[in-house]
Amino acid sequence: MATDLSSFPRIQLGQWPSPLQPCPRLSARLGPTVLVKRDDVSPLGVGGNKLRKLEYLLGAALRDGAERVVTFGAVQTNHGRLTAAACARLGLPCDLVLTRTVPREGEAYERSGNMLLDHVYGATVHLVDTDEEADARHQELLARHGNVASIPVGGSTGVGALGYVAAVAELIEQFGDTGVWPTRLVAPLASAGTAAGLLVGAAAFGWEIDVELIAVSRSADAARQVLLPIVADTAALNVDVYVAGLVHHDHELQEQEARAVRIARACNSYVAFASFAGPTGGGYDRTAGNSAIYSADGRALARTNGDVGGIVRFALT
Ligand SMILES: Cc1ncc(COP(=O)(O)O)c(C=O)c1O
Repeated sequence: MATDLSSFPRIQLGQWPSPLQPCPRLSARLGPTVLVKRDDVSPLGVGGNKLRKLEYLLGAALRDGAERVVTFGAVQTNHGRLTAAACARLGLPCDLVLTRTVPREGEAYERSGNMLLDHVYGATVHLVDTDEEADARHQELLARHGNVASIPVGGSTGVGALGYVAAVAELIEQFGDTGVWPTRLVAPLASAGTAAGLLVGAAAFGWEIDVELIAVSRSADAARQVLLPIVADTAALNVDVYVAGLVHHDHELQEQEARAVRIARACNSYVAFASFAGPTGGGYDRTAGNSAIYSADGRALARTNGDVGGIVRFALT
């Protein structure tokens, strides 16, 4: 399972756990109890979700001997601002290649806000008009400097998404302390690393929660196309086996089996499925003995034979 992230180099940039804040007035207005995970509260770079990704991305960069970091985004990118701040903390020179993709211009847009902070944090900012120009500037930087770590837009790679796998563990601990478990996790989706980490984390830790993603910069279909490869890359890093879920009541059996197959295919990973024999509402004999292990293409590789107490075994290669 991806429950042990300690083999991935990580540099602590934030102050964790970030607060989990109840919102009583919003809850009264909307109906369900709403809590906000305050990843914007941070001691570095004015905070934001990119810091968790950068902990793993810059951990990998330093392990690989990087002497300089280059990253990309639109003018006013939050990811660029946090990369600049993290590099300043680590003493690494940082290049931000920023494309004028947002239809806004003018002194205020190009010099204030994050752009001002990028300079305060000591980054070298390269303003370009097209993706082609950004590629060309990237190649120039690679040719001019020695060991450069290139981080894509939003820090959204499999390694970056590990930051949000870790965030799921943090959430599970926080909710475990309160003893009240949420049924829905809502998150924004732009470059998709946050969402990928949350999905892989929830699956890896066997947390049965609906993850609802709001695509903020493209259509839902286009967002899915961006998200799925990052989910697969994240899952492929270290995840030997996912725990798909537990069956507490017999009516859940079919649903959990379908979930196991779906996760195996989406994450290209083995899935272990335990038909937990502990239903509180009776039906022990119907839920026990249905455990299975699935291959990455969703085939059941081994199943128990329905006997109570049966254990499923399969040698993973
Ligand atoms: C503050 C903030 N929250 C959430 C997101 C979305 O995260 P991701 O790019 O990982 O999908 C962004 C991305 O631009 C952001 O700046």
